[in-house]
Amino acid sequence: MFKKINPYEAQGNVFNMIGKQKMLIVAGNKESVNGMTASWGSMGVIWGAPACFAFVRDSRFTKTFMDTEETFSLCFFGEGYEDMYRYMGTVSGRDEDKTAHCNLTVAYEGDTPYYAEADTVIICRKQGAVRMPAETMSDAVNEKWYTSKDYHTMYTGIIECYMVK
Ligand SMILES: Cc1cc2nc3c(=O)[nH]c(=O)nc-3n(C[C@H](O)[C@H](O)[C@H](O)COP(=O)(O)O)c2cc1C
Repeated sequence: MFKKINPYEAQGNVFNMIGKQKMLIVAGNKESVNGMTASWGSMGVIWGAPACFAFVRDSRFTKTFMDTEETFSLCFFGEGYEDMYRYMGTVSGRDEDKTAHCNLTVAYEGDTPYYAEADTVIICRKQGAVRMPAETMSDAVNEKWYTSKDYHTMYTGIIECYMVK
């Protein structure tokens, strides 16, 4: 059902895909999987390879998997998933089985979990994680986004597989 494509041939405007349409960051292993809505992130090239950059705050349950696992996926869904994105972006996997609540199907590419209902899935191998505390940002950004000191970590994932339906 999914077709693997070269990231250099991918369609879609990244600003719209991430910032407007949104995505799920999915991480975990064969026993346990969690997803969370994200609308911050980027795609580009680093270390000679196409890559994704995901930003996850300290408080997120997803972060525990991002830290322990070697890979993660970014899952993009078509129309009609607004409620799912809202739920995945407000409820924590610490409190509920979010996958079951949303009737999503966990699938694996190798060891990396993703949701089969997505229409685009990017499998990323984590190659870097940089926490961004107050001293790394401007006063304006700190005042607007980090009064709670719930800082982001930027995860750099080299794209292993770009899959579209
Ligand atoms: C539209 C939207 C975008 C979001 N983007 C991000 C993001 O980029 N990074 C982040 O850490 N949290 C983001 N969140 C918040 C998390 O999705 C939310 O806290 C979620 O409940 C965390 O789930 P978890 O504890 O199961 O990981 C976003 C929430 C929404 C609704």
